[in-house]
Amino acid sequence: MKFNHEFLEKNIGLMAVFIVIAISWGGLAQITPLLFSKEVVTPVEGLKPYTALQMEGRDVYIREGCNSCHSQMIRPFRAETERYGHYSVAGESVWEHPFLWGSKRTGPDLARVGGRYSDEWHRIHLIDPRAVVPESNMPGFPWLSDAELDGKETAKKMAVFKNMFGVPYTDEDIANAEAEVAGKTEMDALIAYLQSLGTALK
Ligand code: HEC
Repeated sequence: MKFNHEFLEKNIGLMAVFIVIAISWGGLAQITPLLFSKEVVTPVEGLKPYTALQMEGRDVYIREGCNSCHSQMIRPFRAETERYGHYSVAGESVWEHPFLWGSKRTGPDLARVGGRYSDEWHRIHLIDPRAVVPESNMPGFPWLSDAELDGKETAKKMAVFKNMFGVPYTDEDIANAEAEVAGKTEMDALIAYLQSLGTALK
């Protein structure tokens, strides 16, 4: 029998083997160059690791599912850069574990929201979005103002980021973490986190 495409299509086992080869090849062709690209593992100049308070805020952001409505990934298209600023680059996310790029945008992208509004604006907006944006369909998160942080786990989280992911925290950063966070509310932490977003790249 001649080895033609029909033969392959009618032999499910052989077909499966070739499918695996084709997909692996495609995958490797995409992944391998990234393993050797310095650009994706080198932090952009001026990138700072999250402070203890910002780190707690990021955890609140994840817990409340903010990332299910907000992406943090500005794509390199005119319509996006006009609205949100410089497109996102890999070097901004090297210390993000896990990254929160996302693709679902019920609300606007937040990759560069840092510094766009005052802390007070965020506080009002997070308690009741319609108080500042009447047409908003974002839910309010008023309980964050009452939830006080004790900072007991913060140092441990930072140590994990340092030791496992190579984020350059100093021993001093870690030692001061609890004192920085204790007594602050989850709202304070979340706002500190939001204000840090996308500010490394000018
Ligand atoms: C159900 C979807 C949804 C969820 C969940 C959500 N948002 Fe929003 N968000 C929106 C929408 C829609 C807007 C645009 C209207 C507005 O400004 O309120 C918005 C706007 C914003 C803005 C203003 C952005 C800008 O550039 O004007 C910020 C900041 C923000 N959200 C933060 C958060 C945070 C933090 C959380 C989690 C605590 C969160 N959002 C959860 C839908 C959502």
